[in-house]
Amino acid sequence: MSELKIIVNKIVSSGKGILAADESTGTMTKRLESVGVESNPDNRLNFRNTLFTSSAMKTCIGGVILYDETIRQANNSKKIPEIISQNGTVPGIKVDTGAKTLANSIEEKITEGLDGLRERLKDYYTLGARFTKWRGVYSISDKYPSKLSILSNAHALARYAALVQESGMVPIIEPEVLMDGSHSAEVCYKKTSEVLKKCFDELVLFKVDLAGIILKPNMILPGANSHQKVTSKEVAELTLKCLKESVPSEVSGIAFLSGGQEETQATENLNQINKINKTNFIFTYSYGRALQQSALKHWSKNIEDIIGTQEVFNHRAKMCTLAAKGEWTKNLEKK
Ligand code: 13P
Repeated sequence: MSELKIIVNKIVSSGKGILAADESTGTMTKRLESVGVESNPDNRLNFRNTLFTSSAMKTCIGGVILYDETIRQANNSKKIPEIISQNGTVPGIKVDTGAKTLANSIEEKITEGLDGLRERLKDYYTLGARFTKWRGVYSISDKYPSKLSILSNAHALARYAALVQESGMVPIIEPEVLMDGSHSAEVCYKKTSEVLKKCFDELVLFKVDLAGIILKPNMILPGANSHQKVTSKEVAELTLKCLKESVPSEVSGIAFLSGGQEETQATENLNQINKINKTNFIFTYSYGRALQQSALKHWSKNIEDIIGTQEVFNHRAKMCTLAAKGEWTKNLEKK
């Protein structure tokens, strides 16, 4: 088995999933300020380190995506990547430098960060990272996503992935079709299929080893402002149909983003996907908000309460891991 496949398996097998703790300083500041906590390097580290030292790291979390600031931080002189890997969890790093306005389609975004990436990857490998993340972002409207945005983001994702594999790390490919808007689930299905197919065309062109990537897609959902009501079973069916049609079978690890879904909703939808899955894909989670929201709320009331915050996080991670095995039920949510 290739080294890359071994890393993929370590991250996503046996119901394990990914903690996406790679919010940029700007995003993390918004999250902390929304619960009344000042955003400074110490507070950002304290909250994150509380999660990284919880017992769920050993049992549920196969990989943690870090931000540049965090991968260079230490707690009691122990480096953060070491704290993470001592539990058998794989440290990862977000390597894109954000989504910027796309020339000639200025309401859309193109993700930047390719210049100097080969050198930055060497640095991150030395710091302990063994996988990476790059997020392309697409919005849905009558005109969007445009062919220009679909092609240019797929091209960037493929160039990124080829460089990451060259450096001995596993690339997470995250083409996120946003939930914003009033579109139906069927439109989300159609647009996500287009986006994914173009990504794989480019990945193949760039000779990326598909067994050595993790795909991080959105689930197929109606827009947040749509009045369409869908059941978890419908979400699961549409999501599976889309991925079966668009993702080559060499890909083994698929870890969903939560994209603004409530914690329980993101868990229930993942569970349903696994209950009816008949493919060979492994479906798990790579959640940011849907793993951290309740823990952050609890922590913000008393930032000294490490144990209490860890209990909230452990519960959420356990629910997600049960969902990754199709073993979650609603009554388990009541602690
Ligand atoms: P959410 O689960 O909050 O969507 O975050 C996942 C992520 O990593 C976005 O890039």
